[in-house]
Amino acid sequence: MCGIVGYIGKKRAVDVILKGLSYLEYRGYDSAGIALISNNNTNIFKAPGKLSNLKEILCLEKEENINATMGIGHTRWATHGLPTEANAHPHSCNCKSLTIVHNGIIENYKDLKPELEKKGCKFISQTDTEVAAHLIAHEFEDKKDLLKAVQSAVKKLKGAYAFCVTHKSMPDRIIAARKNAPLIIGVGEGENFIASDIPAIIEYTKKAIYLSDNQVAEIKTDSIKIYDENDTLIANKVENLPFEPIALSKMGYKHFMLKEIHEQPDVVRNVLVDKLHDEDTKVILDDVKLNKEQLSKINRIQIIACGTSLHAGLVGKYILEELTGIPTDVEASSEYIYRNTIADENTLVIGISQSGETADTITAIKQAKEKNSHILIITNRKDSAMARLADSLLPINAGIEVSVAATKSYMAQLLSLYILTIFIAENINSKENGHIKDIKKELLTLPSKLESILNDTKNIENIAKKYSSFKNFIFIARGINYPSALEGALKLKEISYINATGYPAGELKHGPIAMLDETMPVLAILNEGIVYDKVLSNCEEAKARQAKLIGVTNFIDEKHKNLFDDMVSIPEISDIVSPALNIVVLQLLAYHISEYLGKDVDQPRNLAKSVTVE
Ligand code: M6R
Repeated sequence: MCGIVGYIGKKRAVDVILKGLSYLEYRGYDSAGIALISNNNTNIFKAPGKLSNLKEILCLEKEENINATMGIGHTRWATHGLPTEANAHPHSCNCKSLTIVHNGIIENYKDLKPELEKKGCKFISQTDTEVAAHLIAHEFEDKKDLLKAVQSAVKKLKGAYAFCVTHKSMPDRIIAARKNAPLIIGVGEGENFIASDIPAIIEYTKKAIYLSDNQVAEIKTDSIKIYDENDTLIANKVENLPFEPIALSKMGYKHFMLKEIHEQPDVVRNVLVDKLHDEDTKVILDDVKLNKEQLSKINRIQIIACGTSLHAGLVGKYILEELTGIPTDVEASSEYIYRNTIADENTLVIGISQSGETADTITAIKQAKEKNSHILIITNRKDSAMARLADSLLPINAGIEVSVAATKSYMAQLLSLYILTIFIAENINSKENGHIKDIKKELLTLPSKLESILNDTKNIENIAKKYSSFKNFIFIARGINYPSALEGALKLKEISYINATGYPAGELKHGPIAMLDETMPVLAILNEGIVYDKVLSNCEEAKARQAKLIGVTNFIDEKHKNLFDDMVSIPEISDIVSPALNIVVLQLLAYHISEYLGKDVDQPRNLAKSVTVE
């Protein structure tokens, strides 16, 4: 989603900010802008489209207009108003003295706007942010101090915001504020940075202050002052940042997505290390703060997540119910929050999120917390807002994921759910040991099985090429692989814009079968297990309607010969662990179709890596 970078120091701010914004590009955006403040002068530059458009404009500028050592920059993901130059940030007031960049949504902007218009404010964009610019400018006229103006204005704002604000009459400071949207202050020597995410500043500093909700900060070259919601100065809590800059390299792969798909064997090793040693030793989860007695009292599990994380949660439901016997519901966070969800102190609520910043999931977790449920967060970002709300934290350690389409984080979430389930089952003795031992043994063999798929992808590439001209796809599976079908379809539509839908195979005949003909390929996941024959029958039904059939299977069967047009084989694997292998085939298929069609694989249109608005 939107990205913020601010800089105050001795370097040319434009260089630091543009570089920082380029490290946030992966999050998804559709316009960019920068404000440079020097000698009581503010220069604002904006451009719709990619950051390269903004860079082109800046290249044509005279040096004296862009040599400031303080500035704020932004990449905008449109929410209110088209991705035009006028709607791009920074926004300003009538006299252009004040500039603001903003992530989030000001929910009461429509209430505030008429009042400001009555006071003479002229609006030139369709954004909610411009309201904040005029509001703060008005407060500034009264208070004559930017910190006080922001402190007063934020009390009138509803919704979510991370701001950076400057005023040309105070060119020695940037004011930052946050509520329900991430913002960090990078601490340097003789310079300071502000960013909505770590990659933007990690090259310059490894020390940062995480702003909390309702805090406002005054940032100068050599000082940072943080104020709480009562405007009281509080002590700075400087923390070490977790990333190395190298993490943002493609390491020779054409796209981050392909690199991240290939990292999955190591991702599995990383999740298992220190937690699962061998099949005879119990799973160790130091960060789960629930003892045997507390675990035995849990009578309901609720998993809340969005998108790909939601699909991981659906696999989680199958394994949790199978191995622990505890009833488990899975719900999209955006649905969970607008109804009276039944949860209490005996409910374990599991929030799953790669970014840990997804607004819908954060709201859902806060709602569950109020019901005294134990909150367990599975996330790739130990430093995220969600992690900070957790009673128990299960970091997935997948490393930074740059591609908007989640791949390795899904794998790490799946593995974390297997490990968590086994941990609960072993503590409450819900399943006989033999079954659990078999699963543990298989989990340990996963990295080499994944490598065998990744070492020979020619067949998948050929299938991708063959089917890349189709406009629609159906993915079917049953049981524990139904979520794999959903995730495979999501991957394909996200990065190739092909209309792909996942269905439980048994549902085909209840409606979707009407769409089948030779223009609608059907991809079926057929794993040896209790639903194998059923899925095979559903494939026959599809074939009888002339649909092209692609199979993904771990089973060599003569019956496949005259049925499937194309087939991808995966290594031998039990049904319960198979989602971890099947998904890699579907990720590769989506990747190669998108690549073949020449789409922007890593930054698909309209999508954002971290969805920080509800
Ligand atoms: O960061 P989160 O896991 O909470 O994000 C949830 C979804 O926005 C995310 O999984 C989205 O669906 C991805 N683009 C999937 O590739």
